[in-house]
Amino acid sequence: MHLQPLILAAGKGTRMRSKRPKVLQELSGKPLVSHVIAACEQVEAKSRPIVVVGYGSEQVKQQLGDDVIYAEQAEQLGTGHAVMVANGEIDDQAIVVVLYGDVPLISAQTIKSVYNNAKDGGLSILSAFMADPAGYGRILRTDAGTVVGIVEHKDADADQLEIKEVNTGVLALRGDLLKPMVAELSNDNAQGEYYLTDIVSMAQAQGIVINASQPMELYEVLGVNDRKQLAELESHLRKQKIDKLLTEGATLTMPETVDVRGELISGQDVTIGSNVVFEGAVTLGDDVVIEPNCIIIDSNISDGAHIRAFSHLENASVGPMASIGPYARLRPGSTIGESARVGNFVETKNMSLGAGSKANHLTYLGDSEIGAGVNIGAGTITCNYDGKNKHQTKISDDVFVGSNSALIAPVRIRKGATVAAGTVVSKDVGDNELCIARSPQKAIKNWVRPDQKNPGQEEK
Ligand code: UD1
Ligand code: MG
Repeated sequence: MHLQPLILAAGKGTRMRSKRPKVLQELSGKPLVSHVIAACEQVEAKSRPIVVVGYGSEQVKQQLGDDVIYAEQAEQLGTGHAVMVANGEIDDQAIVVVLYGDVPLISAQTIKSVYNNAKDGGLSILSAFMADPAGYGRILRTDAGTVVGIVEHKDADADQLEIKEVNTGVLALRGDLLKPMVAELSNDNAQGEYYLTDIVSMAQAQGIVINASQPMELYEVLGVNDRKQLAELESHLRKQKIDKLLTEGATLTMPETVDVRGELISGQDVTIGSNVVFEGAVTLGDDVVIEPNCIIIDSNISDGAHIRAFSHLENASVGPMASIGPYARLRPGSTIGESARVGNFVETKNMSLGAGSKANHLTYLGDSEIGAGVNIGAGTITCNYDGKNKHQTKISDDVFVGSNSALIAPVRIRKGATVAAGTVVSKDVGDNELCIARSPQKAIKNWVRPDQKNPGQEEK
């Protein structure tokens, strides 16, 4: 027996007021539905979910690719109808776990327990207790506590509306039991919809054991219908990640201002200032310092490195004890070596800077390989682009590049060479050479600017 997740994701999400289908709205930098798929993968790595798509189905398919099976629901006629259109894809021997694409924070642990509760042929449902149950389907139990059905809010009578135990929508049943029940659903109810919830009373009538369990945390079953709810889940998730960071040994000077979207792994004795944003997969070694207002995306920062204020890093790797910024921009493919320094208003892309090398001010270093112990003077530019192609600049160890030099790639500057300030380097430079290419300085004595009078000239 295996897990077959069935994720309902056909709804439009009118209240999001968006061109995007609701399940593609992003939470922590990832589409809502992808959070659900990731949780299923944690339960069973090879579980291939069926995703019921409808509104914006092309966009959803483009985003999710071939890792899932799609079922098309052209018209959204209810949750029961959504499962009906997927019936052909359901395996008889699978435990089908129905999930919602807009309920993103369901945990793997909760999915697993709902799944396990259906393994003996029973119907497993996930319920929750809500202080304000308005809008939800209510769980009906006998006096002895046996679950016998679910009544939707709009179909409920006054007594039933008092029930605080609600249906989360998550349920599990073996495929061969689920399919015939779904085929029999009708839309004879207050909303004229096919209710998946009607299978609960069907199961009861057939003598199938019904088990209701609850999630560990209430937020796991909260759906996203508008941007306010999305922001609430985002801040919940952010708070969780900040707590994890603090537990791992980071000091956050203003924790409430730090934003973690994605997976952040942190070492010990890390210090993070205010207004720092982490996106994607970021790793911080021990003793890393990140000053305020930095944005760090998919990057790896080694032990003892110091990222100064207002720096922007994307797909970069920073070596141990290196120093970046303030106001540095490391673009994708930047590898900064041990104890190297990248200072203010320096932009790097697709390059490496060796151990102990420095580019302290106002520089662009793109498509280049720079060795160890190199000094790159202020205003140095690698001219890597000729309008059509990109070219490489190679700078060996112990090179000194004077300020305001233009290095026209492809070009090589060999070990120990010196480039004089203001030089335009258009040819390779050999080991230990001095390369100087600038117009010689001239002096013209007693030069008179057009707006000045000649000292000897009398006034007329
Ligand atoms: C449903 C449940 C209700 C439960 C509530 C929890 C039914 C009949 N009711 O209510 O008991 O308390 O969820 O939030 O099942 N969807 C489709 N196709 C459709 C209809 C819905 O894909 O035709 C998807 C939606 O995109 C959404 C999910 O199914 O992700 C739930 O739909 P929604 O309309 O929010 O369910 P409710 O009727 O509010
Ligand atoms: Mg509805």
